[in-house]
Amino acid sequence: MGNKNPIHLNLNVRGLAPSATLAINEKSAEMQSKGLPVFRLGLGQSPFPVPERVVKALQDHAHEKDYLPVSGLRQLREAVASFNQRTQGIETNPDYVMIGPGSKELIFILQLVYYGDLVIPTPSWVSYSPQARIVGRHVYWVPTSPDNYWRMSPDQLEKICRTDPEKPRIVLLNYPSNPTGYTYPLDRLKKLAQVARKYKVILVSDEIYGLLHFKDQHVSIARYYPEGTIISSGLSKWCGAGGWRLGTFSFPDSLDWLYRAMTIVASETYTSTSAPIQHAAVTAFSGGKDIDHYLVQSRRILKALAQYATDRFKELKVEVPMPHGAFYLFPDFNIYREALAGKGIFTSVELCKTLLEETGVAILPGYEFGRDPAELTARIALVDFNGEEALRAASDNYSNKILDDCFVQKYAPRISEALNRLSEWFRELD
Ligand SMILES: Cc1ncc(COP(=O)(O)O)c(C=O)c1O
Repeated sequence: MGNKNPIHLNLNVRGLAPSATLAINEKSAEMQSKGLPVFRLGLGQSPFPVPERVVKALQDHAHEKDYLPVSGLRQLREAVASFNQRTQGIETNPDYVMIGPGSKELIFILQLVYYGDLVIPTPSWVSYSPQARIVGRHVYWVPTSPDNYWRMSPDQLEKICRTDPEKPRIVLLNYPSNPTGYTYPLDRLKKLAQVARKYKVILVSDEIYGLLHFKDQHVSIARYYPEGTIISSGLSKWCGAGGWRLGTFSFPDSLDWLYRAMTIVASETYTSTSAPIQHAAVTAFSGGKDIDHYLVQSRRILKALAQYATDRFKELKVEVPMPHGAFYLFPDFNIYREALAGKGIFTSVELCKTLLEETGVAILPGYEFGRDPAELTARIALVDFNGEEALRAASDNYSNKILDDCFVQKYAPRISEALNRLSEWFRELD
């Protein structure tokens, strides 16, 4: 009636809009096509190449063409279980390791098969909440503040669970965090685990940045709540292989029913993860001296960049405590609120849009991560540099030297330039 389209527009993505991330990416592409410089500090992609031996393993298995079992290649599931043992001292049963085309897909399928509210801190990674909404789950955002490193507290979790103790819930913790780079200290992990156990929540520990903890001291909360925790990981961040699309879920034996439910959906949707990639992933998860070396150098470089960037922000009076890992910073530009209002900027989305137009620096608004639109936070991904060159320099010329500001300026000149442009822009506001 009045609608020329003969098909009813009855979509399951109502209320979901294309993200600001997409808008920023499109604007960046448009600017680049006009020959304008764009500094890509928006997309959270690893700057480092996939370790050589892992690439070689992929080449060697390019001929693998058969469908693999829905949960994944047995050898890979065993390698992931050994990885959990080696890196975290956690016993996981290879029978309950599930391989998927990215941990994102696995997190989505979990939300599809488990009828429970999703509990996440704000800020959180951009996709958790839209996934929950697509499958019709309620999202419970837990407010956090920078004084607390943007982390959920055990008391907050307790209060949420106490309101309806029997309600099924998925609590998703990601640390080192995207978008903040902060992690949880041991005592807090233990207390969060106690609350999770008390209310029998399904806890997903998203440890995709675990190996990028700058001090290599990542601790999985699965140590303290093994019977209810699923460890989520993959190749995308620590192994530089986001585009390979491989993620892993390690379930405890007690969640075998959930594992089975997820494999049913997997079998009816993606069938199995790409065979050559799974074979190559065996090499990645089995590790070795070369991969350890690659990780040590990656962490050194990321730490140096985070230090450099936090120092630059301090000069602007924007306090961002040094992150603990990953490649992000989450500054709050509130101190410039008045000056920004004078320019007609009242939200993080407006701030990032204007920054891109006027400085060429692409960063993402805090709003995308679940923050109030009027809060002037943004996520900065320190990834616009040649990871291969930086790795080589860190292991050769800088093997016994601190990766100082000179290193950053020489091997991550675009990041250094982007930060200069941001500094200049904010200074001119004053
Ligand atoms: C916190 C977090 N979790 C999960 C993912 C998904 O990673 P993938 O699907 O590549 O395994 C990402 C990717 O950006 C992420 O930042």
